[in-house]
Amino acid sequence: MYSSKDQDNYLAFTKLLLKDISSGNTADKLKEIELIRKIIRFHEYRYRVLNDALISDYEYDQIFNLLKKIEEDNPDALTADSPTQRILQEDISEFQPAVHLVPMLSLDNSYNAQDLLDFDKRVKEALETEEVTYVLEPKFDGSGISLIYENNLLARAATRGDGTTGEEVTPHARSMPTIPLSAELESEGIQKLEVRGEVVISKANFKKVQDNREREIVESGLKSMRQFKSARNTAAGTFRTKKNIEQEVRKRKLEVFLYHISYAVNKDGRDILGSQLKTHFDSVEMLKKLGFRVPEKEISVHEDIQSLIKRCEQWEEERDNYPFEVDGLVVKVNDLRQQAVCGSTSHHPKWAIAYKFKARMVSTVVNDIEYQVGRTGAITPVAKLQPVDFMGVEISNASLHNADYIAEKDIRIGDTVVVERAGDVIPQIVKVELNKRSGKEQIERFPTECPCCNTTLVKEADEADWRCPNWDCPDQVRERLIHFSSKNAMDIAGLSQKSIEKFCELGYLITVPDIYRLPFDEIQELEGFGSKSVNKLREAIEVSKGQSLDRLLYGLGIRHVGRETAKIFINEIKLLEELGDWPLEKLEELDGVGPIVAKSLFDFFHQESTPGFLADLRSLGFTLEKSEDDSAAPESAALEGKSFLFTGKLTQFSRSEAAEMVKNHSGKMSSSVNKKLDFLVVGEKPGSKLAKAEKLKTVSILTEDQFLEMINS
Ligand code: IVH
Repeated sequence: MYSSKDQDNYLAFTKLLLKDISSGNTADKLKEIELIRKIIRFHEYRYRVLNDALISDYEYDQIFNLLKKIEEDNPDALTADSPTQRILQEDISEFQPAVHLVPMLSLDNSYNAQDLLDFDKRVKEALETEEVTYVLEPKFDGSGISLIYENNLLARAATRGDGTTGEEVTPHARSMPTIPLSAELESEGIQKLEVRGEVVISKANFKKVQDNREREIVESGLKSMRQFKSARNTAAGTFRTKKNIEQEVRKRKLEVFLYHISYAVNKDGRDILGSQLKTHFDSVEMLKKLGFRVPEKEISVHEDIQSLIKRCEQWEEERDNYPFEVDGLVVKVNDLRQQAVCGSTSHHPKWAIAYKFKARMVSTVVNDIEYQVGRTGAITPVAKLQPVDFMGVEISNASLHNADYIAEKDIRIGDTVVVERAGDVIPQIVKVELNKRSGKEQIERFPTECPCCNTTLVKEADEADWRCPNWDCPDQVRERLIHFSSKNAMDIAGLSQKSIEKFCELGYLITVPDIYRLPFDEIQELEGFGSKSVNKLREAIEVSKGQSLDRLLYGLGIRHVGRETAKIFINEIKLLEELGDWPLEKLEELDGVGPIVAKSLFDFFHQESTPGFLADLRSLGFTLEKSEDDSAAPESAALEGKSFLFTGKLTQFSRSEAAEMVKNHSGKMSSSVNKKLDFLVVGEKPGSKLAKAEKLKTVSILTEDQFLEMINS
């Protein structure tokens, strides 16, 4: 990033500047303003990125304050990327949705050497070569972030959200000294860049953050103020703050590690990933050169999977010595073209995998077993545990999954059990410590009736869960209401899980349509609800009537109908009720819909209460009609009814552009080569997909040019 000559120059200038400041000789510093900014950035980089400060905090503050003063006196000289602009952020009232340029995917998991060998085999098969180099890096346990730089300036920061759309958190990112406000992207021929990383708090800093919080809690006397439980939650929680953002970020000592370039185009709008930038390792090196914080010493490159496995095992032993929380490692195919050939599922890239460290264990006592009724009626037994501290998080519940699980592990009330917790997953009971049994432990009898509505429980022969079959069971309705108003469904801000629980208790909510009949006058009188928050709630509820039809269908909480499946159904109809007229066979024929999903949707539309339920929604102002923008009008119908898949290195357009074109011309994207696929578009060096398609004989093979022709015709 800085040559030794740069460094010498900056240091020499720093000394002169400090001398001038201490002698009050700062009158004509305006002409050096850009140099002063560079000096400050240099020292921020030394301190934050290299962890090797060359001047004291006091000296840094003096230079910083001088710059602030010059800018105050000369507002015209202020620039957006001035170091002073990290602070003085304004409060925000609402988080803005931020659509990701490329979806922010998750990672597939592996747990042992065999899983890694399997991954290696899959990759090599897809690439049809044995020559694959991998990069291994820490899997930071923090909160994901996406940063977009345009014309050298930080333009937007966003959280991961549902992977497609996150929330804009630019002020939060600007407040983190490890995130540069500007970078010389132009020098690398880049006009627009999206880079992803993880916001973390070091173990040492987290202790300090907790100590400070403790003091604040005591001093403020606020009962509502809670201690921070884990670095990861604290980092994620910071992105929820709307006020005093800069102070909060600073207080929590957040830092960032960047580990992935998801988008990079030059000034002609051409994708440079795989061409100008050839490997993942090169991209990390480039980011480092540009002044970004990247994992460096901790990255290793492996020509073969055996050496990578060895390094994973070494890491596992040494993880406690690492200054940041890591819940595993990430293995990535190094060559970016090879990454493109591997492709992705809708959930994770096929060129990367997380290697999860073994979960930590702790032992405690099962005090009781309770039963929860889920949204779809499944009865989940939950162990109420003697609370124990687990790496800073108190654990008092563990899921017992179902009756078979309890029987298999022979878990009894009073037993001492070993509990493990991996990442943010709900704690699991690994085993019973049989040597600690006194003989007084009680074997639990699984209930035969719903703990909420006493309906006799049922169990399908091929399923593990007992279920309450009563669609109107109050516990199920409550869970369904929570799901209905959740972010991915109707997204009713202000109607939180807590409010729903309260409104259910008070009898305001008995069915989903009751949301649209809430007695706001009474709610206003409740503790914790002012007129302002009630007005906001009323508005959010009203607005939700205009949510897209696929969100509504997903929100109804029909078993097996996820967000994507809901979209498939809604694509086919204009009015929601039409689905009720479809015979089961027709539902099953839809691409992406299996017999189980089809049956579940069919059952919903044929249960006695559904027509009345839909009529109720209609009388409350729902149109139950697909609006034009639900399906953003396509440019043409050239690809209508046809499904597409792309393979190999594309030279005319990027993969996301391809998907966009298919959608814009009324076609559909497919995720694999199968009989339902109509066209496989083949770029350079296609992999196994082409062979598979040729074998099937039902798939038409197109070149990129032929595909473009098809659209233009
Ligand atoms: S790569 C398409 N690298 O882990 C690229 N992710 O469980 C996918 N994470 O969503 C991400 N450290 O938030 C990558 N070195 C690393 C990572 C990392 C932590 C997070 C990331 C991701 C999650 C998946």
